[in-house]
Amino acid sequence: MADLLSTKPYKGTRDFYPPEMRSREWMFSVMSKTAESYGFERYDAPLLEPIDIYLAKTSEEIVKQQIYAFTDRGERRVAIRPEMTPTVARLVAARAKETPRPIRWYSIPNLWRYEQPGKGRLREHWQLNCDIFGAQNEFLADAEILQLAVSLLRSYGADSRHFRLFLSHRELLNAVFAKLLNLPNEKFAPVARIMDKKAKISVDEYRALLHAEGLDDRAVAVLDSFLQDGITFLDKNSHLAGAQYILSMIKFCRELGLADYIEYDPSVVRGFDYYTGLVFEVFDRHPNNRRSLFGGGRYDNLTSAFIKEKINAVGFGMGDVTLEDFLRVHGLYKEFPRKTEIYVALFDEEDIRLAALKLAGELRSYGFSVETALSSGKLGKQFEEAGKKEIPLVLVLGSDELAAGQVQVKDMRTGEQTRLPLNHLADKLRQLVAEKTNIPE
Ligand code: HAM
Repeated sequence: MADLLSTKPYKGTRDFYPPEMRSREWMFSVMSKTAESYGFERYDAPLLEPIDIYLAKTSEEIVKQQIYAFTDRGERRVAIRPEMTPTVARLVAARAKETPRPIRWYSIPNLWRYEQPGKGRLREHWQLNCDIFGAQNEFLADAEILQLAVSLLRSYGADSRHFRLFLSHRELLNAVFAKLLNLPNEKFAPVARIMDKKAKISVDEYRALLHAEGLDDRAVAVLDSFLQDGITFLDKNSHLAGAQYILSMIKFCRELGLADYIEYDPSVVRGFDYYTGLVFEVFDRHPNNRRSLFGGGRYDNLTSAFIKEKINAVGFGMGDVTLEDFLRVHGLYKEFPRKTEIYVALFDEEDIRLAALKLAGELRSYGFSVETALSSGKLGKQFEEAGKKEIPLVLVLGSDELAAGQVQVKDMRTGEQTRLPLNHLADKLRQLVAEKTNIPE
């Protein structure tokens, strides 16, 4: 006999059985509701894109190491989307003239990256993308995106004890490199990478790496001050590009009531080449899960890969994997019972069975979720099945009940049995079902 195939999903991906799917739908519905409460509209697009849209401008790591790509039968180079940002820029560019601005769009696509799977990192994940294109006042658009990012986690019941949003500005880092450290352009990326590693290596190693990139002791001291002194450094160097922006944004966020949630952090860089202004990253504050939850920023040049017009844009991507870890570690993750509300038992006699099946159909038309037994075995077995499936109400329509114009209702949660008249049954059942709590919307 041939070897049996594995039932495991492909490496770095997840199967979603109904219980996980119910929680996932809840997570997604909170995303949609929150985004829509800010006037965002949902869009979607194909999983496959011509690879060129990623080659123009994205993260080098993604294009060189993480993209799933192939040549199709028509010799086209195709990629499975590793992120949604180039796609949404394509969509906006295609309807740039006719779409009223500012454009506020969101999506919840599945994305693929060839990663080494680990905590919070998989090969397939779903990512809420919220982006604003073409705002006249870019500062207000940035602030709205930050506000929405905070609102999202708050919609799951989280507050400032659980997370923090750290922001910075791409131009500030560039100005520090160019004006204060006198670094040539080609040194920006390697020095940023060393900064990124700082927390994970010893002070001596950190200094040695910076020296190797040509930074002398004075430059290292300036960099230290930039990283450590926070707002004080900005106040002293407010002439630098991006510095005024950060000072104003922090002040504005405070006025919006977000002081407990939003801070300036010079070490926020973000991995994509397309960011041009604001960059931010949301971090979990739990000691067991101190990691980045999601991030985003301003990118003003992406539409110009498709059309002549540059349309300014700002947005973020929030992944479902990191979100689920966050919700679990803080006790905010929710699980839900099955949605079926009513189980209709069946008898062998054909006319009675037919009457029960018709009753089931009628109740469905009233909006109930109704399962029927797919057997007409012993009633006890049917009750057992309904019990195992945690269906709250079982209806029995036998010949006696039918003759009396009634139906027997067993509440599986309490064991109580009652007879209800078939007239106005839906209203009575609605009351009974309402006692069932925790159904995801
Ligand atoms: P990103 O930082 O690559 O940004 O991804 C955003 C979020 O998606 C991450 O913070 C994380 O929650 C989740 N994520 C990314 N990769 C994985 C993975 N391999 N496994 C699990 N979760 C993952 C972007 O993708 C930008 N395009 C976001 C954006 C939208 N910027 C502006 N608009």
